[in-house]
Amino acid sequence: MPETNVAFITGASRGIGYAIASALAKNGIDIAGIDVNIDELQSSMKTIRESSGRSTVAIRADVGDYTSIESAVEEVNKTLGKISILVNNAGITRDNIILRMKDNDWDDVIRINLTGTFNCTRAVIKGMVKNRYGRIISIASIVGLMGNVGQANYAASKAGIIGFTKSVAREYANRSITANAIAPGFIETDMTKKLPEEVTKALLSQIPMGRLGTPEDVANAVKFLASDEAEYITGQVINVNGGMYM
Ligand SMILES: NC(=O)c1ccc[n+]([C@@H]2O[C@H](COP(=O)([O-])OP(=O)(O)OC[C@H]3O[C@@H](n4cnc5c(N)ncnc54)[C@H](O)[C@@H]3O)[C@@H](O)[C@H]2O)c1
Repeated sequence: MPETNVAFITGASRGIGYAIASALAKNGIDIAGIDVNIDELQSSMKTIRESSGRSTVAIRADVGDYTSIESAVEEVNKTLGKISILVNNAGITRDNIILRMKDNDWDDVIRINLTGTFNCTRAVIKGMVKNRYGRIISIASIVGLMGNVGQANYAASKAGIIGFTKSVAREYANRSITANAIAPGFIETDMTKKLPEEVTKALLSQIPMGRLGTPEDVANAVKFLASDEAEYITGQVINVNGGMYM
């Protein structure tokens, strides 16, 4: 059991990150929300605080910038206490076929999705090692397992998160720190709203359950991996995809 129950959640202002923050708060966990969009983050953290009665803080930080994450971690340690759970959720897409993919499209996606996961993990891991407790949960994607046309940058970043997670799991298992990834399929959020209607239709036909996932479907898996019941599960990738990839 950890001394404190504090989750550091990136990209918590909306979508899957917000659903994760709400679900963990309802489970008695204090929430540090991290996002580049501070206005939306502040109002989301306020809603969670008022509905759950837990403490929350909203911090503007870019996961791709180690210095800003390091100071966010210090602030959380001072305000809420020791971080027991890290959820690496912040992520972006910059889709294009390889022939048209710009250097920036590649670099931004790798910097935010993959380097961001590394930055947050190395910023919290020292504290977790000291406490001999930690839960690191990173949001990968079905695309990191299957690949996808127009998403070579995103697929590489998400496959990278899976390899990274397995390495963290091996390095810190003997300190009671677990590291797991969740690979959502297609989930209804702002990220997938951008898809053209015919693409969404084609995707639906590939999902045995016949619907897109909800942010809560993903949050439920995070809630489990963050719980005491999951203490012997590490280095795994949990698919939350309605059967789209098995
Ligand atoms: N929606 C899907 O279908 C789906 C499927 C598989 C995986 N995912 C993954 O789930 C995660 C959340 O996705 P979502 O659909 O909720 O997306 P979203 O775009 O709705 O939310 C992403 C959040 O991350 C924040 N963010 C972006 N860049 C950031 C940065 N540099 N530093 C800090 N915060 C930053 C955004 O402001 C936003 O609040 C992402 O990692 C995404 O790749 C989503």
